Amino acid sequence: MKKVNDNKTNLSNEKLIELILELKKKRNAVILVHNYQSPEIYKVADFMGDSLGLSVKASETDADVIVFCGVSFMAETAKILSPQKTVLLPNMEAGCALADMATVEKLKKVKKAHPDAKVVSYVNTNADVKAMSDICCTSANAVKIVNSLDCDKVIFLPDKNLGRYVSKHTDKEIILWDGYCFVHEKLDSKVLLDFQKKYPDSKIIAHPECKDELLEVSDHICGTGGMAKFAKSDGSKDFIIVTECGMTDKLREDVPQKNFHSFCNICPFMKFTTLELIVKSLTLNQHEIVVPKDIADKARIAIQRMIDVSK
Ligand code: 13P
Ligand code: SF4
Repeated sequence: MKKVNDNKTNLSNEKLIELILELKKKRNAVILVHNYQSPEIYKVADFMGDSLGLSVKASETDADVIVFCGVSFMAETAKILSPQKTVLLPNMEAGCALADMATVEKLKKVKKAHPDAKVVSYVNTNADVKAMSDICCTSANAVKIVNSLDCDKVIFLPDKNLGRYVSKHTDKEIILWDGYCFVHEKLDSKVLLDFQKKYPDSKIIAHPECKDELLEVSDHICGTGGMAKFAKSDGSKDFIIVTECGMTDKLREDVPQKNFHSFCNICPFMKFTTLELIVKSLTLNQHEIVVPKDIADKARIAIQRMIDVSK
């Protein structure tokens, strides 16, 4: 087998895919792929999905190795749920700017200011922040998770847009964090409405990380896992997809009978994974995710609570 040591090789995508499938078998590995990844990565996926679906899969697999094609908080979540497995992130640069907006130091201060509140952390947080949280949530289950809690006040972090969206669907007081995802935050409602004029019969499906005024003009708000479901069940033929650009490619594959128009930005972190790096990852066992045991043990409680409430 050809040894692949560089990030770029002369091998075709077909050859790289063949190599990955071979290595996957050899190492008893599964490849989990987030919906925002590029289409060539779909071809090596054992499972594709949203943050919630990927967390559940990571907790259920009996493979020895999990290769995560997504970003670091997702790979960390997989490691926390399956501490005995090897979890690999092909590119360590694949972080998440939103996750980095929540720090342990700041959370300590906010908790002190609101001692009667429970802490709900979006899975887009680093493991140390999850370890200080009562429960995690994703965009697919945030409202359900908050409403499941036995308290009147919730510190919701780090995404203020998702937090605001949740606050409209609960009686609880929501303490918002000042975090946002720049990929979604930059999408503008006026520009969107102008764009919609090109497709007058279209419906707008938006991710809840978008700003409030954009969500106000959308027909449906959901995480990446809910988008295909809505497009399939809705009578419209045309949809404008307002989120990271990769989602539209995924929808075109999953729902070929409908038309999807992208109103999007690229998340650079989600595009750091390449076929070459997956080969390298499985060949050289890199980059192995490590979460200190004390942090992982606490974070696991918050993640597992989320999975249990979501069932
Ligand atoms: P989903 O949980 O909807 O897949 O979203 C993950 C994410 O990173 C959104 O920016
Ligand atoms: Fe993080 Fe935003 Fe990228 Fe999602 S789209 S991984 S929230 S930076």
